[in-house]
Amino acid sequence: MEYEEPKFFHVMQYAAGADGDVIDMVSGNPDWEPPAALREALREYADLPPEEFQYPPSEGLVELREAIAERRNVDPDRVVVTNGTGEANYLAMARAFERGAGDEALLMDPVYPYYPGKTDMLGGESTLVPTERDGSLDVDAIREAASEDTALVVLNTPNNPTGAIYDLDAIREVVEIAEAVDALVMVDEVYDHFDLTGEFESALTLESERVLVTSGFSKSMAITGFRVGYGIFPEVHVGDAKTRHMLVNVAGARPSQYAVHHALAETPPEYYAEARDLLSERVDAFTDALDAAGAEYTRPEGAFYVLARFDGFPGTMANVKRLIDEAGVAGMPGEAFGTAREEWIRFALVTPRTVEAAERLADYFGDDAPDPR
Ligand SMILES: Cc1ncc(COP(=O)(O)O)c(C=O)c1O
Repeated sequence: MEYEEPKFFHVMQYAAGADGDVIDMVSGNPDWEPPAALREALREYADLPPEEFQYPPSEGLVELREAIAERRNVDPDRVVVTNGTGEANYLAMARAFERGAGDEALLMDPVYPYYPGKTDMLGGESTLVPTERDGSLDVDAIREAASEDTALVVLNTPNNPTGAIYDLDAIREVVEIAEAVDALVMVDEVYDHFDLTGEFESALTLESERVLVTSGFSKSMAITGFRVGYGIFPEVHVGDAKTRHMLVNVAGARPSQYAVHHALAETPPEYYAEARDLLSERVDAFTDALDAAGAEYTRPEGAFYVLARFDGFPGTMANVKRLIDEAGVAGMPGEAFGTAREEWIRFALVTPRTVEAAERLADYFGDDAPDPR
């Protein structure tokens, strides 16, 4: 299987080897504390009897599946606990392609790079459908692109990299389009706790047999290393997802699921609100600096990222490296996210040095603007 190394590895390596001090705004790893209950549960786990160190049920610890189901208002049988949202995405996409209802995936452009990667791996064909300038769904463009060959439409809200939160009515229209061409719709909601507008509504509320929702705890509990995610599949698809999950993994990791279950039960809403407030403050500080730098940007409605465009400084890999060397700030080249935002650079606001990074960018692009390239 041919697969180009993800561009973010390349940027991280370059930044790590740079001479000066570099602020990392590349990855989506939260820099804040996980819930206190998660740390407590982990400590407790170390002293449990040996049987607790053995295989959990393949589709996940029953109590965790039940807790997820309760929060998401679905039957626990529809929940499969996965190795991160990444695996849930894989299960959902694999299901769409194996139905024999086409081999094309419609992916929104700009795109989270693992979607085209997974489509390729599964033998599907990606078609990129541009979103609107503000990152919202262009339903007409999706309608135009959809055909008998379309097996799957992939949506991600709140969105990486644009920060857009999709309107539920627009998602409903996309589901109708999918119905008309016999396709499934996967909605990746991994950033659902990072809704800065208060307007996010899960696609599960549509109660559609076409909709497969994926999510996880990597971001909401600041634990990307724990690898606990889940898929909520319609009844007709969940059996297939469980089988595939079992054949690929046997089961997920028990200590992680145990800790997440405890944290879910014991973490007050304030924990999530604090993380959101922190992010909101960073968005304000960062976008103020982008104003000072004369940049165009998309103010995120959710998730962790800001896309910015600097006149005369397109978001190529070469310019991203130049920004590392000359301004001491590492972002992701827009060309990593499909074709729609090649001119742009994505900055992840998951560093305590966000304000300092913003100042560096304002200085760099402010009065003494770099030579255009
Ligand atoms: C849109 C999107 N989906 C999925 C993932 C992966 O999530 P997880 O760590 O739960 O596998 C990420 C990680 O950055 C993401 O941005």
